[in-house]
Amino acid sequence: MKKNAELRGRNLPTQIKPHRFQASVNAATLPQHWFADSAFLTHMLNTWTAIFPDAERYFVRWSKKALAEVKDPQIKKDIQGFIGQETMHATQHEKLWDILRAQGYNLDPVIWIVEKFAFDWLEKALPDKVNYALVAGLEHFTAMFGEIYFENKELMDQMHPEMCRLFEWHAAEEIEHKAVAYDQLMAIDDSYTLRTGVMNLALVGFYLITFGNTLYFMAQDRSLFKLKEWSTMFDVFFGKYDLARKSVLKFLEYYKPDFHPWDNENYHLAQNALAGYDAKAG
Ligand SMILES: [Fe+2]
Ligand SMILES: [Fe+2]
Repeated sequence: MKKNAELRGRNLPTQIKPHRFQASVNAATLPQHWFADSAFLTHMLNTWTAIFPDAERYFVRWSKKALAEVKDPQIKKDIQGFIGQETMHATQHEKLWDILRAQGYNLDPVIWIVEKFAFDWLEKALPDKVNYALVAGLEHFTAMFGEIYFENKELMDQMHPEMCRLFEWHAAEEIEHKAVAYDQLMAIDDSYTLRTGVMNLALVGFYLITFGNTLYFMAQDRSLFKLKEWSTMFDVFFGKYDLARKSVLKFLEYYKPDFHPWDNENYHLAQNALAGYDAKAG
């Protein structure tokens, strides 16, 4: 946890609270490959839509539990806001499951992996502190992707407009609450070994599920062996947009011994979007 003096005067969220948003994706008008006409990019985000609801409910379970353990009133307040935001994310992404099913995709294996294997059996088998560290580690990923979203708008604007709205809202709130699970973990146990050791596990699990299921979805719509798909993937991750290198650098920040999420002061990326949702909600 950063001392207040270190964070004073910086552009950080003053209050974390849900920003009202309703996804209104229409099954009849959503193209099958709704992100840059790319099966790979579409299915990477479809995979996140399939896994986010269970992962976010897992975050909420542990944050509710942390409220009894954490004493700092500001962190407790932030945790309440975090719970509100993650609960909404889970609901909005889950609404898309029926649309993906109607498009012919089988979501059941990936949902089973997260719902039963990860966030039931594994969660119960792991010590509490490992679960808190896992929440903080996974939240570093979502904060990274939130930042990548706003820093690569030219690419992200190639999503179908309604999906773009959903992912922009989610990305903005992930930036806004990026320090909450970290501060929560630091208040419970600030061990470097715990934080980074668990991050190593989170890294393997997150990428196995993300890329494994992306390939599974691609196989389902027979796009797995299309050269165009792999050349787009290469361009996005290793060429024009260079997302692989950018992600690795952002990821490695977490391993600095004195790391804090707000060392990277990027709240300004999300603020316009967040103000827009509040203005619409009145
Ligand atoms: Fe979220
Ligand atoms: Fe989050």
